[in-house]
Amino acid sequence: MAQKARMTVDRDFRIGEVDKRIYGSFIEHLGRAVYTGIYEPGHKTADELGFRQDVIDLVRELNVPIVRYPGGNYVSNFYWEDSVGPKDQRKPRLDLAWRTYEPNAVGINEFSKWAKKADTSIMMAVNLGTRGTSDALNLLEYCNLDTKSEYADLRRAHGDKDPYGIKLWCMGNEMDGPWQFGHKNAREYGHLAAETSKAMKTMDRSIETVVCGSSNVDMPTFGTWEAQVLDEAYDYVDYVSLHQYWGNRANDTADFFAVTDDLEYFLHSVIATCDYVKGVKHSKKTINLSFDEWNVWYHSMQQDNEDMENLPWRSHPHLLEDIYNYEDAIVDALALIKFLQHADRVKVACLAQLVNVIAPIMTEEGGPAWRQTIFYPFYLVSKYGRGTALQPVLSCGDHATSKHDHVTDVEAVSVWNEEKEQLAIFAVNRNTEEPVEFEADLRGFEGYHVAEFAALEGDDMKAVNTKDCERVKPIRRTDAVLDGGVLKTVLKPASFVTIVLEK
Ligand code: AHR
Repeated sequence: MAQKARMTVDRDFRIGEVDKRIYGSFIEHLGRAVYTGIYEPGHKTADELGFRQDVIDLVRELNVPIVRYPGGNYVSNFYWEDSVGPKDQRKPRLDLAWRTYEPNAVGINEFSKWAKKADTSIMMAVNLGTRGTSDALNLLEYCNLDTKSEYADLRRAHGDKDPYGIKLWCMGNEMDGPWQFGHKNAREYGHLAAETSKAMKTMDRSIETVVCGSSNVDMPTFGTWEAQVLDEAYDYVDYVSLHQYWGNRANDTADFFAVTDDLEYFLHSVIATCDYVKGVKHSKKTINLSFDEWNVWYHSMQQDNEDMENLPWRSHPHLLEDIYNYEDAIVDALALIKFLQHADRVKVACLAQLVNVIAPIMTEEGGPAWRQTIFYPFYLVSKYGRGTALQPVLSCGDHATSKHDHVTDVEAVSVWNEEKEQLAIFAVNRNTEEPVEFEADLRGFEGYHVAEFAALEGDDMKAVNTKDCERVKPIRRTDAVLDGGVLKTVLKPASFVTIVLEK
């Protein structure tokens, strides 16, 4: 029997402007993200710098406005000086995070050029694990300053006359994690992040900084970490980070689709903590959220752990190459909907990662690049989810899963692009058994018609894409009925739809 869902879309029910940086992503020096991912001299599509044009084309298709770089865990042992200047003088290094060999053939000189070609900007992380404030300042000067001083001079000597103008800087990575080299307690880290951010902002007044929050919602220190770090750093930083990865280890799809209820709890708790510290400090400033690592990640983990243990110090090995299936794509759609529902506070989000490593884009060395299943929800939401996020006033049934009660059948949000006179509705039917008769009351959007109706639907939750065959991709539907200002359609079980209306 079909379930029912009714949504009211009203342009006055505003959540907030969507910051385009929520469609960010991440390239870490890890596995084949850089080498044979974005960079493969000798590949038939490689440009004069060795960047794969086929990959750049796919990145541009996703329309990713910001890319976090160069890590991740990698950054906590990153010596940026080794990765710049004449290539024949660069020093290879051992990366401790992933136990691999880093040739340093690509560094910020090259990545800044790749970013331009991919039509994106860089979100740069500094090493606050094994290094500290002065190295962060040197890197900032190298990247952003036009002064006659040591590191700006060095950049020019390396052939880059113009500064890179990097506006967003991460104060380390996952510093709450015991696995992090240079891991610190919350007070130590908060103090270091505050002092580093203060010094960096004195050097370049135009930058914004992100302080590390928790590595995931299950960290034992979650909550106190944010409160103590922000107590130290509140006045000096702009965003607090959140990271979260999901997996369907128990092969329980219904419960897998409920992970965004945990995400809601995570977001809500961090927002509350930021505002608690704001209150305690009698501050006028609001700290917003940078969800700078999120995705499904579990398929490759066991093999990777064995390989890192038994086969260390390889150059660009196959690591974290999760092959995504249909249900993973639905979970990514749910996460994007959740970020839009919190558009007033989530200002940055990075799909981790972008190429080969837990990524929407895969490549074969010497071969093609192709789209994983998770490419498509990101593509659709990034394309149409720009403008003002509107409050999803939604009534629908719910169901229980093995670990979650009251899981709403439908999760939805809409985004109104006033300039384009375009309204996008994004909806997932999380009910894996029943279709949902979906109605949207589009009051105030008279004269709009359905311009695009894309659906990700399928019965095989484990269907994957390969370089030769795209089994999972959106289909175009034409059966949405718009009558008297009410849009009606049916959401198939376990499906994601994007409905775009235009004037
Ligand atoms: O994205 C892969 C890894 O996940 C990152 O290096 C780290 O920050 C996180 O634990």
